Amino acid sequence: MIKSMSVALEKNRGKDLWATLQKMSLRDKIGQLRQVDGSGGRSDASLLEAIRHGRVGSVINVVDPDLVNELQEIALHESPAGVPLVFARDVIHGFKTIFPIPLGQAATWDTDLAREAAHLAALEAYAVGIRWTFAPMIDVSRDPRWGRIAESFGEDPLLNALFGRAMIDGFQGNDLSAEGSIAACAKHFVGYGDSEAGIDYGSTNVSEFELRNVHLEPFRAAVAAGVASVMSSLSDVDGIPATAHRDLIRGVLRDEWGFAGLVVSDWDSVKQLSVHGITSDDKESAYQAAEARIDVEMTSDTYENHLADLVSSGQIGIEAVDSMAMSVLKFKKNLGLFDRPYTPKNYKSGISEAEIKDCARRQASESFILLKNSDSVLPLNQKKLSSICLVGPMADQDREQLGTWVFDGDPARSETPLKAFQDLLQPDCEVLFEKGLATTRSSCAELADFAVEKAQHADAVVAIIGEEAILSGEAHCRANIDLPGEQVELIRRLKATGKTIIVVILSGRPLTIGDLLPHADAVLFALHPGTMTGPAICDLLFGHKAPSGKLPFTLPKSVGQVPIYYSKKNGGRPATHDSIMSIDDIPAGAEQTSFGMTAFHLDDGFEPLFPFGFGLSYTEFTYSDLHILSNELSRGGELHVSVCVRNTGLQDAFEVVQLYTRDRVGSVTRPVKELKAFNRVLVRSGEAQTMRFSLSREDLSFYRRCREYGVEAGEFDLWVGGSSQADLHVTFEIDA
Ligand code: BGC
Repeated sequence: MIKSMSVALEKNRGKDLWATLQKMSLRDKIGQLRQVDGSGGRSDASLLEAIRHGRVGSVINVVDPDLVNELQEIALHESPAGVPLVFARDVIHGFKTIFPIPLGQAATWDTDLAREAAHLAALEAYAVGIRWTFAPMIDVSRDPRWGRIAESFGEDPLLNALFGRAMIDGFQGNDLSAEGSIAACAKHFVGYGDSEAGIDYGSTNVSEFELRNVHLEPFRAAVAAGVASVMSSLSDVDGIPATAHRDLIRGVLRDEWGFAGLVVSDWDSVKQLSVHGITSDDKESAYQAAEARIDVEMTSDTYENHLADLVSSGQIGIEAVDSMAMSVLKFKKNLGLFDRPYTPKNYKSGISEAEIKDCARRQASESFILLKNSDSVLPLNQKKLSSICLVGPMADQDREQLGTWVFDGDPARSETPLKAFQDLLQPDCEVLFEKGLATTRSSCAELADFAVEKAQHADAVVAIIGEEAILSGEAHCRANIDLPGEQVELIRRLKATGKTIIVVILSGRPLTIGDLLPHADAVLFALHPGTMTGPAICDLLFGHKAPSGKLPFTLPKSVGQVPIYYSKKNGGRPATHDSIMSIDDIPAGAEQTSFGMTAFHLDDGFEPLFPFGFGLSYTEFTYSDLHILSNELSRGGELHVSVCVRNTGLQDAFEVVQLYTRDRVGSVTRPVKELKAFNRVLVRSGEAQTMRFSLSREDLSFYRRCREYGVEAGEFDLWVGGSSQADLHVTFEIDA
């Protein structure tokens, strides 16, 4: 039972936090810096003891509200300082109801919806006592082999920055202390998405300019958005593990950007400093992490075991411990924990499960990217179908469609494609179903035989294939990013029946699907879309909505092209269509030559399978009248641009209008294109919309050779269109 407010809490309540801190012993302060894993629950006697003695400041992985309150009770009433605990959990893309994985959310290019989804996830998590999530992950990710690309918003710094901001706003709301708000955490600071060979926990070797202009940008935006916490990365950045990176954490994050929130390590990443080989023991690891100002050590115990000694020996000043503990106290105060430490019993957010599922369905349906639609086979005409055959190892997998990082996701809430087809179409249309393969990794000719046999009796065949959830996410990287198992062979056999074959891919990462394309009449690509995958697929296949998703990454032809991204540098010998050759064009015994040669692969050219920003619709959009309305950039004002987008097809549809620029000459080489703005807009059939964009000097500034941010005078290109291969073009200038 929850007692009335404790004496200690009364003392802390509303008072100056410095006064609270002054009364705390060194051990109490160090306790605040320790986050423990609470998954052992009540039976973990050492957890309860540690809380009782003030040796714990936060707990990760407790999701039972009664236990949350029991532990809180011990912290408030029995620990020496009576400071409330804060409970943390990875709420990455939903809590019980699962939204698309972050990479899928980025494919919507709809940041408002991402904000709404994060807010609803926060409400579900708040109900069980969670006040701190470790999201958003805003690591710019350009390697689809990396399993955690699933958790990112893709390859572009602006997409990561804007989606990161939307999620932060959604989780934290306007008032972090309000009921239903939880603290966000921008992670992993920094460069984690650039680990060598796309292997999780690998090293990151990235130049200062690339670090500043690409990887740090989303974090700068997150700090500006008021993110409550930042997590250090598990990886090393140019030889210095991020968790000990004083220059980045104290230098850039704290001093340069003025971040006043809390910095947490990643799981065991302080202890792992010695595994990296940058320290020789735990004591030195504690020293280096504290020197870098990691406020909270997640799960390992080097602070607990060594910080007091480091203070008494004078290696770490007490003011350092005070500043770290103060970060924790402020964090808790901002969350309102000193005033309302307990989780309300039977908390009701006022939002029903149906409303949350509705948002999950909208976001899922916006996330599908239409890559192919030969002869406009899609949308299917529901009224003309008397039977449809659903095939594939992902067609009825309530768990797999949720994707990675869904510890609390409830598969029982999932609406699978099979269920959605049956609900929508029966009894007017017969829904046949055959898996074809037991899992996405299987090879079983017998099951495929059954599927081919059934397909022959249907008017249309829809194959739902892809990757199981466990093939992406943390520590789940792949060297080969083809569709696993014999899925392509299954589709080839289905196509041989002569039926119309619609393929829906549910994946955790970009896949190399060039060998699949010829065997499919239509291809819809999605990144594990979550609880409402089935209804979202029906919305699109039967034309209740037109697909509007756009690739938040470049889809490579082969894994050998990786890393391939649209905003590359030009180099001195950029590839063009007439400067490349194929491996087959080289005669046997040819002499070495590089005259006239450019930057490409002999066996894959220089272009991807599909470019960043690409996605078809059921309608056609034409772009025209791209104008610069006014250019005040030289006077510190803005550049105003307008463009006309016309829907020349028959269906009302959303289009993601994208604006790219190129800075032709810079003091350091500049990307050939950079996304600067976008807008998702509804254009009705036969109508046109005039879209307006404004760019400021800040939008065009970058980290320059002089080691300062700024815009450099000169000529710029500007394109607007429906993908990164937009060809409507104008130029503009900025004077010195
Ligand atoms: C991951 C973090 C995560 C943490 C807590 C680590 O292994 O790298 O992203 O927040 O675990 O679950």
